[in-house]
Amino acid sequence: MIPFSFCLITLVFVVATATQARNHHNHPLPRTTPAAAKDTSHVSHVYSRNLTLSTYEDFLDFFIFNNIKDPSGGIVTYVDQKEAERLDLVGPGKAGGIRIAADLSEKNVTAGRKSVRLRGKEAFGEGLFVFEIAHAPVGCGLWPAAWMTVDESVWPVGGEMDIFEYGNGLRYAPEQTLHLNGTCVMPPHRLQTGNNTAWQDCDSFEGWKTGNHGCGVELLNDQFAVPALLNRNGGAVFVMERNADHIQGWAFPSCSPHARALKHRRKIDTTKFGTPSSFFPSTDTCALKEKFGKLHPIINISFGGHAEASWVRDGCLALAPSFYTGWGVSENSTEYLKQPENSVEFHVSSYTYFAPT
Ligand SMILES: *[C@@H]1O[C@H](CO)[C@@H](O)[C@H](O)[C@H]1NC(C)=O
Ligand SMILES: *[C@@H]1O[C@H](CO)[C@@H](O)[C@H](O)[C@H]1NC(C)=O
Ligand SMILES: *[C@@H]1O[C@H](CO)[C@@H](O)[C@H](O)[C@H]1NC(C)=O
Ligand SMILES: *[C@@H]1O[C@H](CO)[C@@H](O)[C@H](O)[C@H]1NC(C)=O
Ligand SMILES: *[C@@H]1O[C@H](CO)[C@@H](O)[C@H](O)[C@H]1NC(C)=O
Ligand SMILES: *[C@@H]1O[C@H](CO)[C@@H](O)[C@H](O)[C@H]1NC(C)=O
Repeated sequence: MIPFSFCLITLVFVVATATQARNHHNHPLPRTTPAAAKDTSHVSHVYSRNLTLSTYEDFLDFFIFNNIKDPSGGIVTYVDQKEAERLDLVGPGKAGGIRIAADLSEKNVTAGRKSVRLRGKEAFGEGLFVFEIAHAPVGCGLWPAAWMTVDESVWPVGGEMDIFEYGNGLRYAPEQTLHLNGTCVMPPHRLQTGNNTAWQDCDSFEGWKTGNHGCGVELLNDQFAVPALLNRNGGAVFVMERNADHIQGWAFPSCSPHARALKHRRKIDTTKFGTPSSFFPSTDTCALKEKFGKLHPIINISFGGHAEASWVRDGCLALAPSFYTGWGVSENSTEYLKQPENSVEFHVSSYTYFAPT
């Protein structure tokens, strides 16, 4: 709303966080993984800008409108570009890049509300991946995500890296999660500021039967990242680094120095970012390098799924006992999502890929 004063607040916040991170570094959390003893001197933490999408045209060139059936059972109908344009579900983002939205104009949404799934034409291996979010969808029932994954034919076991994913977006910060093939249990205590979710086995092959949870970390320290707050405070940037040693992620307010560096600098050294929000080490029993194929960036707005999982703690019980009791496809939910405090819009102002050097 008032970006200038927000930046002042943010700077105070960033200084306080940096101080905490330094203190934190003096007393590191126990790291119960062999990764601590491993020689990682060969692993580069310096990345060079390779691809920057920051205009609407950039996004339209790079992404396709992926009107497939939601593979994880979200109650949604993804439309093609023509239909997205007809219903005004796509356009330039308010801070550059793209705006996508779910539809609130149709009355009968029994088959799933119309929405957009963008899929990048190119796929990437190691590197640094950055989504800059100016505005995120907020409201009970919403399940949006900005993430990376393999070809649909081997999804999700071929590798999925969720960079910004949540349900509802009202009270909790988003999650960063890995999905892969085979047993791969993350150490319970890791050097990260986020909280592990209840599931720390990243396996989506066996895990498919029990809900395909993957291994998730909630970015709970980053209060600015709670979508409802992010929208009021000028946005945030979500980053994940994938190299031979680990996958790890951070979140930064859009006007913080790290976010500005990610937007403008040619080279990025991730050792300057401090303690990550999420940390997934590659270990002898789980070599991440072998577990992940090349990943396409995806941006989508789905319904149900994660939203149902945090229905109660987000205060959604006041609306209906569950998303799936019929409420999620009712006119009641359409009316609710039209309220000014809710939003079905996703403004992704940039997507950047930095390659390893
Ligand atoms: C990005 O990486 C590819 C593959 O290494 C390379 O061909 C291309 O020149 C790079 N582009 C930029 C802008 O650095
Ligand atoms: C949409 O996003 C959710 C959250 O990441 C994901 O699980 C689901 O499969 C997605 N649907 C599609 C079709 O991309
Ligand atoms: C709503 O749409 C579904 C299929 O999408 C259809 O079966 C049903 O008859 C429709 N309901 C009304 C009231 O038109
Ligand atoms: C995943 O692992 C299972 C069990 O080892 C195997 O049967 C399957 O082919 C693997 N899938 C992929 C896509 O690698
Ligand atoms: C995060 O984890 C700590 C320690 O396990 C716990 O006390 C706290 O309630 C958790 N916070 C959230 C929001 O889950
Ligand atoms: C919609 O709201 C009305 C009025 O509050 C209620 O009677 C009805 O059960 C609701 N329908 C659903 C599907 O939640």
